[in-house]
Amino acid sequence: MPDPGHTAGASHSDAAEGDGVIRVLLADESTRIIENLTKRLGQEEDLTVCAVAGDGDTALQEALRTQPDVAVVDAGLPGMDGIQTTEMLVQYLPNTGVILLSMEAENEAFRRAMLAGAREFLQKPFSGDELVSAIRRVHAYGQRKGTPAASPAADPGADAGADAGAAPSRGGKLFTVVGAKGGVGKSVIAANLAVSLGRTCRVALLDCSLQFGDIGILLNITAERTIADLAANNAVADHDVVEDVMVDGPGGVRVLAAPISPELADYVTTQHLRALIEQLRRTYDCIVVDTATHLSEISLDLVEMADKILVVTDLSTTGVKNARLLQTVMGVLKVDPARFVLVVNHRDGAGELERSYVENVLKTEATVEIPYDPNVVATSIARGVPFLLSQPQSQAALRIAGLAGLLSSAVPGRGHPGAGAAMLDAAPHKRRRRLSIGRNRSGQAPASD
Ligand SMILES: Nc1ncnc2c1ncn2[C@@H]1O[C@H](COP(=O)(O)OP(=O)(O)O)[C@@H](O)[C@H]1O
Ligand SMILES: [Mg+2]
Repeated sequence: MPDPGHTAGASHSDAAEGDGVIRVLLADESTRIIENLTKRLGQEEDLTVCAVAGDGDTALQEALRTQPDVAVVDAGLPGMDGIQTTEMLVQYLPNTGVILLSMEAENEAFRRAMLAGAREFLQKPFSGDELVSAIRRVHAYGQRKGTPAASPAADPGADAGADAGAAPSRGGKLFTVVGAKGGVGKSVIAANLAVSLGRTCRVALLDCSLQFGDIGILLNITAERTIADLAANNAVADHDVVEDVMVDGPGGVRVLAAPISPELADYVTTQHLRALIEQLRRTYDCIVVDTATHLSEISLDLVEMADKILVVTDLSTTGVKNARLLQTVMGVLKVDPARFVLVVNHRDGAGELERSYVENVLKTEATVEIPYDPNVVATSIARGVPFLLSQPQSQAALRIAGLAGLLSSAVPGRGHPGAGAAMLDAAPHKRRRRLSIGRNRSGQAPASD
């Protein structure tokens, strides 16, 4: 008998077996309704209930963990209500279609459901057949809209929620730059931070904005091979191959570029990234990761692994609202708030909220505030030279340098070449195997020479 708040049926990794089976999450406060719906959906061969939840927080947590195809959410959930839960699911799990259930009169509830981003609305009471057809419709719509990222291969250690609060592993420090709104300055900050850290540390910069990565442009580098080649060739844990694929960026930063085309992003799974980060931690003192705005399983994993999570926000209402949502997701994942670093970026010259207001909403003090400086930032982007190098005396550069100073204080032996984490494998530039991983992404060729 399913118990709201507890997982029913298949786990995330079992799900891979269910080719063509639609995985459904049910969220309703009533255990009786959950039971009835589970029983009804159990009669359909192409449907399986992968998780159930009795409140909004559990629904989000279970959804992040099990990545359902369709979430059936009751509007009247306790805690975070069904509308808020729908908003969160839509934002953080774009591949999950949401069906909102409500007792309310159709018009108003329908309007609210659609505004929240639900794909279907069902007014209670409804028949089992109606729900089954709605689930199939929503799933079919999702399939047409775009193929979700490739499911990671089964990995017992890779349960997204299982070790969220775990202590970061040893070796080089991972700094993951996140932001829940496009254009808040994640990539600009990641690139300049990496260059600044590079003054005293060995730094790897990873562009994990896998579909539309901008790091290559910001640093004016061209990478023939990228993280997608490493993933497709299962070479993420091979030091020499990784070094061969990485390119030299400004200020001595070593860069692993994003795939050259959006569809290649699907080659990269959370398992690849875990192995890659583990391997980079042995070679570098600091690993700076830029992420995509949309919070995928991959960025959540990078958040979980991070020693520090740099949450970038601008001072707009939407930016702050989204930063708050991001914070909530991290809370649900039990990420230790001590790992948050709030970066307030004035990327708009006018109409901005007060910093104190933002800090109040986020209940977090900003660690750093980067001023609005379109000349410095825009010129740097246009030339492909980080302003940390071209205009090191600008306020923007000084603030980022201050942030780098704070972050690098956690790095053992910084400033001493070969010290600290780098001592473990202090020769990223030593003899590298030249490998034949080219543009062929069949994934068949072994990555060795
Ligand atoms: N402090 C700043 N002052 C002026 N413009 C900025 C500042 N920070 C960012 N920008 C502008 O915002 C744009 C978006 O930054 P970017 O780093 O690409 O955002 P994200 O990676 O979050 O989508 C940049 O192209 C730049 O023009
Ligand atoms: Mg970006």
